[in-house]
Amino acid sequence: MEKKITYFENPGIENTEKVIELVKERKEELSIENIVVASVSGRSSVKVLENIPDAKIVSITHHSGFRGGDDLELEQEYVKKLENAGVAIYVGSHSLSGVGRGISNKFGGITPVEIIAGTLRLFSQGVKVCVEISIMAADAGLIPTDKEIIAIGGTAKGVDTAVVLKPAHMGNFFDLRINEIIAMPRP
Ligand SMILES: Cc1cc2nc3c(=O)[nH]c(=O)nc-3n(C[C@H](O)[C@H](O)[C@H](O)COP(=O)(O)O)c2cc1C
Repeated sequence: MEKKITYFENPGIENTEKVIELVKERKEELSIENIVVASVSGRSSVKVLENIPDAKIVSITHHSGFRGGDDLELEQEYVKKLENAGVAIYVGSHSLSGVGRGISNKFGGITPVEIIAGTLRLFSQGVKVCVEISIMAADAGLIPTDKEIIAIGGTAKGVDTAVVLKPAHMGNFFDLRINEIIAMPRP
């Protein structure tokens, strides 16, 4: 089987539109229904919604307090658009850091789950994010684990990575399968 992977010259938000175009094509090709998007503000998820309105979209933001206090980083203008279209917006603990981050922040060192995150970042920030948000969505009961989905992530803002994967729950993390890379930044 031969498949296309698009590599971006640089990571970052400028790749958002192209990623969404490529996701739309691959979704049709594989008849995939579910798309999970990492979208801190909700902006990238709105772009996915506008371009792929027939998808079942889950939009995942940072957990409350990620930037301090108890604040959420979602922006209301995007939340409204997503809610009006029935898109699920999920806020919860990050599966590939979790309490492990609290341990390493306080005592130093690194926990096994953070090593998994670091290893996935060998591909790109976005590949790590795609895996992380798929587990979060599966554990929230928002996507099935018995069929392929498309996950979309990026580098801090916007999106630059998309993969086709078969999700898994936290408890059987190693059953998760990254089946296709649609796009990722090369450096
Ligand atoms: C749960 C979660 C974890 C994330 N982890 C990272 C990360 O480790 N590295 C990174 O560069 N971006 C990370 N991001 C950012 C996303 O990959 C993406 O660029 C961002 O959510 C897009 O948000 P926007 O739609 O507001 O632009 C994370 C986002 C979420 C929601």
